[in-house]
Amino acid sequence: MQNFEIFLLNNLPISKSIHPTYEKALQAMLEAGGKRFRPALLLGVVKSYNTLMLDAAMHAAYAIELLHTYSLIHDDLPAMDDSDLRRGNPTLHVRFDEVTAILVGDALNTFSFEVLSKAPFSDYIRVKLIQELAVNGGLNGMVLGQAIDCHFENKPLSIEDVKILHTNKTAKLIAASLKMGAIIIGKEDLGEKLYDFGIKLGLLFQIQDDILDVTQSSQEAGKTTNNDEAKNSFVTLLGLEKARDEANALADNLLQELNSFDDNLKNELSPLLIQYINRHK
Ligand code: IPE
Ligand code: IPE
Ligand code: MG
Ligand code: MG
Ligand code: MG
Repeated sequence: MQNFEIFLLNNLPISKSIHPTYEKALQAMLEAGGKRFRPALLLGVVKSYNTLMLDAAMHAAYAIELLHTYSLIHDDLPAMDDSDLRRGNPTLHVRFDEVTAILVGDALNTFSFEVLSKAPFSDYIRVKLIQELAVNGGLNGMVLGQAIDCHFENKPLSIEDVKILHTNKTAKLIAASLKMGAIIIGKEDLGEKLYDFGIKLGLLFQIQDDILDVTQSSQEAGKTTNNDEAKNSFVTLLGLEKARDEANALADNLLQELNSFDDNLKNELSPLLIQYINRHK
């Protein structure tokens, strides 16, 4: 993933103005790192079928990371999860102020689509990619998930509804990352199959994140943990043990499904997935 980090650093949002901290704030959370899981998924799909497309694919991987980073900045705001640590650093509203955090989120959201609109693909692929990111990251994707997440604080949902919540807030963007990789290499049928796989993977990812909230310190996680008490998390609703059982069942299912993909793709994705697909003891 070194190439992706270099690409990101070379393409940070730039805004020269009289504002003393705006540009720094635009860049801070991107530079702070993170797992880059979504870019890795997109690039993994592209790499397993067409390494010649990897340079172009960086633009799309970066666009997803931009949208994801915006979602984290807004997720941490006092009005939402009120978290003061993210990616090992103070959150933007703590380091700067709330106005800055809101506006930087807005800016990274639109910048992600600017990056995609300028990416070196055919017009057809560019529009497909823009659509996929908008549909999954927007009003009936991540944003809907966040709306349900915050609205139902302290109002317990059924596990079926929490799955819908997690699918929207987290899984759709993860599924879109895989599908966008397939769109770039011109394999739309594979994209549909990867999308279904990605929804399950994303659900597992969010259950693991719910588990991490109670099993890791803020320092270990690099973000505020022990923060889900009021949330409809798998752990708050089921308890840690049952949440782990649920994660294990999903992991077994995913491992089986992974075997139905071509070897090249399986080999590329396996190392990325192994920590999520590993069973809890
Ligand atoms: C955190 O996402 C928010 C969730 C969807 C659980 P990540 O765990 O991918 O955060 P970074 O990108 O590594 O910081
Ligand atoms: C947030 O889920 C998912 C997003 C869309 C940002 P969480 O609120 O559980 O994410 P963390 O735990 O703060 O990273
Ligand atoms: Mg949240
Ligand atoms: Mg949060
Ligand atoms: Mg969480």
